[in-house]
Amino acid sequence: MKCIIDTDPGADDVLALIMALNSPELEILGLTTVEGNALLEHTTANALRLLDYMGRTEIPVYAGSSTPLEGDFHHAYEVHGEEGLTVRLPDTDVRPADGNAVDFIVETALAMPGELALFAVGPLTNVARALNKEGRLKDALQRVYIMGGQGDGSGNVTPYAEFNIWDDPYAANVVFGSGVPVTLLGLNISRQTSVARDDESWMSGETPGERLAAQVLEKWFDLDEEEHRARFSLHDPVTVMAALRPDLIETRAATLRVETEGERVGEVRADYESGGSVDLAVGVESAEALAVMRGLLRG
Ligand code: RIB
Ligand code: CA
Repeated sequence: MKCIIDTDPGADDVLALIMALNSPELEILGLTTVEGNALLEHTTANALRLLDYMGRTEIPVYAGSSTPLEGDFHHAYEVHGEEGLTVRLPDTDVRPADGNAVDFIVETALAMPGELALFAVGPLTNVARALNKEGRLKDALQRVYIMGGQGDGSGNVTPYAEFNIWDDPYAANVVFGSGVPVTLLGLNISRQTSVARDDESWMSGETPGERLAAQVLEKWFDLDEEEHRARFSLHDPVTVMAALRPDLIETRAATLRVETEGERVGEVRADYESGGSVDLAVGVESAEALAVMRGLLRG
């Protein structure tokens, strides 16, 4: 599967990227970065450093949006740290590719109609801007796998909203309303695929990917001893896994609309009656999904 990964690394983004890099089924044509967990300069630097650490500097990184469609981004420093990561990856001399994320997504998809999958595990701003820029994109993309939305549960930023959607609700409406095929995994799924603070099997390993993942997890838990940080939800990793093992995810076709104002801003409302272009995940084989993700960390 040829793909581009749009990301705001981020602790769970890093685990998702390690898994994707280790998967023989994914041909990663590039990473595109978006502001979200941290400033764009930091999410982009984290992406570049990670690729160098994993020995994959042949993969280009294109920087994208530092502002949402409306207003400004809010960040998740309390979750991921001031610069988006709880670990300091070694510096790299590799620089972002010339050009921007939006143009890279559009040009790559149009060059291979029906072949390119897109993973979106941060705010959907780059994806929305690409769809707005090029009307043919919704038909050129094979599918967009998105981490976002509260599912049938509560949010993680407010009781109603999940961070990626909350940080750019207008972009989410553009993507969900475009007709591009989407598989959407929300908090209802990622909360079923989480790692406990004392889960030794995730805090050890021999390969570079396992060692980095263990550091990210250990530092993330150390950031806060509070009970609400008892488990690390694999939000972005399970989104990558869904593309590799769709048999482990149950979905329902839906038409989605996102609230863009008021106290419920970012809330995703699903209408299943009329079906729709979004396959909304409603169930996951948790144990098997965790085993698949743990195996991909090892590489
Ligand atoms: O709500 C979880 C999502 O927000 C994940 O993608 C995490 O990395 C943050 O971006
Ligand atoms: Ca993310």
